[in-house]
Parts: sequence; C-alpha cells; structure tokens
Amino acid sequence: MAPKIAVIYYSMYGHIKQLADAEVKGIEEAGGKADLYQVKETLPQEVLAKMHVPEQSKDIPFITAEKLKEYDAFLMGIPTRYGNFPAQWKTFWDSTGQMWFTGGYWGKYGGLFVSTSSQGGGQESTAIAAMSTFAHHGIIYVPLGYAKAFEPMAETKEVKGGSPWGAGTIAGSQGERTPSALELDIAKIQGKEFYGTVAKAFH
Ligand SMILES: Cc1cc2nc3c(=O)[nH]c(=O)nc-3n(C[C@H](O)[C@H](O)[C@H](O)COP(=O)(O)O)c2cc1C
Repeated sequence: MAPKIAVIYYSMYGHIKQLADAEVKGIEEAGGKADLYQVKETLPQEVLAKMHVPEQSKDIPFITAEKLKEYDAFLMGIPTRYGNFPAQWKTFWDSTGQMWFTGGYWGKYGGLFVSTSSQGGGQESTAIAAMSTFAHHGIIYVPLGYAKAFEPMAETKEVKGGSPWGAGTIAGSQGERTPSALELDIAKIQGKEFYGTVAKAFH
C-alpha cells in the first residue's frame, strides 16, 4: 500500500510555492504521488493590499484539520516571520485541537521546507520552532539531513537556502530573487527521500 502524501504550503509571494512544486516532483520521481494544498490567508485585505500580496490561487484547495487526517505523511512549506513560522500557519494548527486531543495525527510523518528573505534570516530557527507543533501531535519528523544531498548542500559558490532541517530558498529583501536551480534541486531531493523514508513503513 502506497502512503498518501500531501504537500502543504503558505506562500505570500510564490517562493515557497515553487519549492512545493519541486517537492511534489521529487515524490513523483520516487514513484509516489502527492496532493498539493495551501494554508488560508488570515490577514485583513487592507493589510494585504499595502503589502502588494497577490490573491491566493483558486486552483489549489485549502488544507483543513479534517482533510489532513486523511494523509499518512505531509511536507509543509513555511515562509519565515521574525525567525519563526507565520501566524497563518499557526492559525491552521490552532484549528486542529480536536486532532491533538484525539490523536488524529499521531504517528503520521512530517517534514518541512522554508523561505527567508536573507541568509541568517531564520531558516533553521523556523524549522526548530515548528518542532513543538509536530511533537505535541505525535507527528514523526523526517529531516532532510545531509547524506542524500551532500553536494548541493555543501556548495559555497552561490547564495542558497536550505539546511539539514529541510530545503529552503532565499527570497531577497524585496522578494526579487526566485528559487535557484540548486535550491529547487535540493527540494526535489527532499521530496524523493521523504517518500522513500515514509514508503518503508507502508510495505
Ligand atoms: C512580517 C514579516 C516578517 C518577516 N520576517 C523575516 C525574517 O525574520 N527573516 C527573513 O529572512 N525574512 C523575513 N521575512 C521575509 C519572508 O520570509 C519572505 O517574504 C518569504 O520567505 C517569501 O516567501 P513567499 O514568497 O513564499 O511568501 C518576513 C516577511 C514578513 C512579511
């Protein structure tokens, strides 16, 4: 039986979305399938307008607490806010209290990938902050690690996001940078290896 996998992201300006697509590609290359979901916006429209945030896609469904329960494993794309996860991501998790209470997500597998505007802007601290949510739900965290992506991870000639906690991208202070081929490659490797790890439990 193949595991049922979701890739879930919150993306204001599209950087994390590109990584999410690469993660899905990696899962598919490994022989799996993944459904893509987005996390619903929570900021008021007048704030979003001031921030020049494009409307959320109408083609990608929003994740709900009930929907997440249907999956065996999921990868989450998280753009950093002050070295931490965004309120939108937390609002989703704050809607899952019933699952926490009943063990609805207990034993599921989870991984993550992140985006920051700058290097040192909090890629690792964002991942570490997310661990508390995973731990409280009993979600088994699957890191990217180094072994399967050593060369692109150890590359020092170009700016790049990502860490052993998960793939990542550096968006630039105005969001002017798009994920590089190297960053997308790491995200694809993460998807592939995540699927490989999870599939072992579903023989
Ligand atoms: C309120 C706010 C706080 C942010 N805090 C950080 C931060 O601590 N470090 C950082 O490097 N970037 C920070 N950023 C930049 C975002 O991480 C960046 O816009 C995002 O990763 C881009 O991904 P997206 O296009 O998928 O939304 C912040 C952005 C906003 C709006």
